[in-house]
Amino acid sequence: MSKNPRIPFPPVQHAYAAEEIAAVVAVMQEAGPKSGPQTQGPRLAAFEAAFRSYIGARHAFAVDNGTNALHLAATLCRLEPGDEVIVPGYTYCATAIPFAARGARIVWADIHPTRWNISAEDIERKITPRTKVIVAVHLLGMPCDMKEIMALAKRRGLLVVEDCAQALGAAIDGQVVGSFGDFGCFSFHSQKAMTTLGEGGMLTVASDADAALVETLRFNGVCDYEGERERYWMPAMSNVDLKLPGAWPYNFCIGEAQCALGTLGLARVDGLNAVLTAQGARIRAALADLPEIAMHEIPAGYRHVYHQCVLRYDGANWGKTREDLLDILTGENEMRVIVQYHPLYRYDLFKDRGFGEASCPDLDWFWDRSFSLPWWNGMDDATVDDMVSCVRKAVLRLREG
Ligand SMILES: Cc1ncc(COP(=O)(O)O)c(C=O)c1O
Repeated sequence: MSKNPRIPFPPVQHAYAAEEIAAVVAVMQEAGPKSGPQTQGPRLAAFEAAFRSYIGARHAFAVDNGTNALHLAATLCRLEPGDEVIVPGYTYCATAIPFAARGARIVWADIHPTRWNISAEDIERKITPRTKVIVAVHLLGMPCDMKEIMALAKRRGLLVVEDCAQALGAAIDGQVVGSFGDFGCFSFHSQKAMTTLGEGGMLTVASDADAALVETLRFNGVCDYEGERERYWMPAMSNVDLKLPGAWPYNFCIGEAQCALGTLGLARVDGLNAVLTAQGARIRAALADLPEIAMHEIPAGYRHVYHQCVLRYDGANWGKTREDLLDILTGENEMRVIVQYHPLYRYDLFKDRGFGEASCPDLDWFWDRSFSLPWWNGMDDATVDDMVSCVRKAVLRLREG
């Protein structure tokens, strides 16, 4: 395929609005000897307040990316050697790394066969006396079965981390993801529903005790001394401490310009999601009569926000594979379809560290048949119809031999 395919897969999901650009410039213009710092100021507080209210979370902490929101959550899970963490095999690597890096044994869970995110049934099968945490990833914008997962976690005394990196605004019966579990981790990377200049993230926290640790945990342990001080510089300007034995703090802070942008992005994220949802519904309706093609099953009451538009092609009845289909779509049709994510237990990083074994038959079957269509916010109907027509023609041609 050429470097400039006819239908690309752009690395940024949507353009900035004029007021978003102005908000960033305003922070830059303010900089000077009399301005506040460009980090940890009023825009951070405003972004976190807006996020709390959007999610319905007790606490929210903006950070520099979604991976570090997961690192904070993993630290707050207080893992001990031998603890097991159940993670879906089907997700981006950053879901699992923070837990593995803290010494946990990663146990891979299978996907739900038609919703394509973590299976509550398989989680239950994989729980052992050493299980401490379940990581539920609302992959591709599709909410996991949070009611079942939370009930299970409560019964078995487990912590739940929601990886909402791809699902800001996804909901079940009106309750948005990130508000169900003990922690919610969000990403504002440039390919996400909203972005804060390419990188950014948020951690939501349910417990007041955990929330009290996050400020120091995300800022190198820098904190105030307790009590009144006669001289503000004695014994030092600020203390360095962390009341979490065994854990080390980091700098995961995010700047004021990104926070200013985040508050504005959050205000329009439902509108941005609605555009992708309408495109997804258009594709679903147009391909519904082809048994080879499937899209996510969306149960009643679920709001799937179509972070990507994933299709599954099963050409077994005609002796055809996904590769046969993609050869046509990427070759003749010059569509930049993508194939991700490889089940994590198949990657060298995880295999080399002892996490190469898994029993995830539904994921193994699905993954070899899945792909994502080119996808960005604001794609016009003509492009959507063009892609649908290419897929239809290719599927029908593959029936012919
Ligand atoms: C499922 C999932 N988890 C975590 C992350 C990490 O987020 P970030 O790229 O902001 O570090 C991503 C980012 O792509 C993701 O898709």
